[in-house]
Amino acid sequence: MLETLLLSTEDADLQKAAEILKGGGLVAFPTETVYGLGADAFDPEAAKKAYAAKGRPSDNPLIVHIAKTEDLYRVAAEVPGEALRLAEAFWPGPLTMVLPKRPELPKETTGGLSTVAVRMPKSAATLKFIELCGTAVSGPSANVSGRPSPTSWLHVKNDLDGRIDAIICGDTCDGGIESTVLDLTDPAHPAILRPGLVTPEMISAVTGCEVSYDPALFKKPSEDPAFRPKAPGQKYRHYAPKAPMVLFEGDTEDIQAAIKERLRAELEAGKKVFVIDRPQPRTFFARLREADAQGADIILAAAPESGSSLGFSLENRMLKAAGYNIIRVGGGQKMKIAIACDHGGFNLKQPLVEHLQEKGYEVTDLGIYGEERVDYPEYGKKCAEYVVSGQADLGIVLCGTGIGIGIAANKVHGIRCAELVTPFMAEMAKKHNHANMVSLGGRILEPQQAIELVDIWLDTEEEHGRHDRRVALLDEM
Ligand code: TXA
Ligand code: MG
Repeated sequence: MLETLLLSTEDADLQKAAEILKGGGLVAFPTETVYGLGADAFDPEAAKKAYAAKGRPSDNPLIVHIAKTEDLYRVAAEVPGEALRLAEAFWPGPLTMVLPKRPELPKETTGGLSTVAVRMPKSAATLKFIELCGTAVSGPSANVSGRPSPTSWLHVKNDLDGRIDAIICGDTCDGGIESTVLDLTDPAHPAILRPGLVTPEMISAVTGCEVSYDPALFKKPSEDPAFRPKAPGQKYRHYAPKAPMVLFEGDTEDIQAAIKERLRAELEAGKKVFVIDRPQPRTFFARLREADAQGADIILAAAPESGSSLGFSLENRMLKAAGYNIIRVGGGQKMKIAIACDHGGFNLKQPLVEHLQEKGYEVTDLGIYGEERVDYPEYGKKCAEYVVSGQADLGIVLCGTGIGIGIAANKVHGIRCAELVTPFMAEMAKKHNHANMVSLGGRILEPQQAIELVDIWLDTEEEHGRHDRRVALLDEM
């Protein structure tokens, strides 16, 4: 175990910190976003140490910090005009740019990628420290991997004491969420890989070109390659408190009412509850740590108001902290889902019912209720009729493979039943085919996979236009 030095932001201490770093050590430093875990970006051994101290998978690249814009040329092989303009506008500040890397930068620092993510942080002490180091400083957030990011030196000490050489004990971070990561490898088409406090609107205003979000940001991370985010870090369950967290989405009033109701139920059950009803980027991670310190059994949190880019950035962290455990509230009537199975799909039914109820749907379980053996066509038809008669908005049917019962459902006029096997199919079933029923197989899927697929189907929006025509044709058949 190392002795972790606690250093001040005085010149002599910054000098000491720089010497430790140049000697291959690890030094945590303050920034305006979150604390970083500094290592010499050109030293592969130091990068390995940083991964080990955090317990972080080594395919997740580190952000490289510089103190002067000219130093961009020390780490990036190509620096387009857009990058210089953005640096001028936002540095020092919470914008990280992904550019082709220089060959001297070791693959250990960039997680094996041919690009580097680089930024200039806004902290006078840290800029001085980097300058004194005379090198670029790689710096992932200074937390144990998977835990909430640290926004004060005390958080860093709690996570990494004994695992790193020193902490520069500076100010509490006033940004509170990590920098915006912007892919500039195609400078005419910048894309945000991790949303942050520098928004697409702010970037567009400087570059004059449209800024897109990596489409993977809108989806729950999954093993499916079609869902893989471009910033490797975005695929991990992240920023997680110890207690399970539930995220309430909807209108502010509905959210507050739903949290109140759930709070009462949890307290009655003897649970220790931590509520985050007005989440703010600056304090969100600190609140998660507070919940842990209080030994909370469950965290109930309100999603930020939708519609703003800043809200989207905060929600990105909240979704990960909650492990995508979302409850949608309000919108007047609860949406109704009917579900039916035969003996082959029986193992999937109860977990799905409980999950859907927890998500706020009104679920009608049409059977079977025990493990009796039945003929699936009867159950497929029963559920389909429930949907076309308007007693339910959507239907789910389950059998051994999902095939037979799905065929049965599709015999009923007005039903568009799709079988869900992969996340992509689940997305398309809604997006392009407007499926009002789905079928799944109990002999090919585990309950958790079935839940994931059904969630994707339910949470995807229908795409209209040319698809409406086709759906209308199907309905006429
Ligand atoms: O605000 C911040 O950015 C903080 C402070 C310390 O500067 N740093 C930070 O680093 O959040 P870290 O390592 O926890 O997150 C880096 C993110 C990860 O999601 C990683 O996958 C992505 O940036 N990233 C790094 N290099 C990349 C690259 N070359 N291409 C794509 N994504 C990259
Ligand atoms: Mg991090």
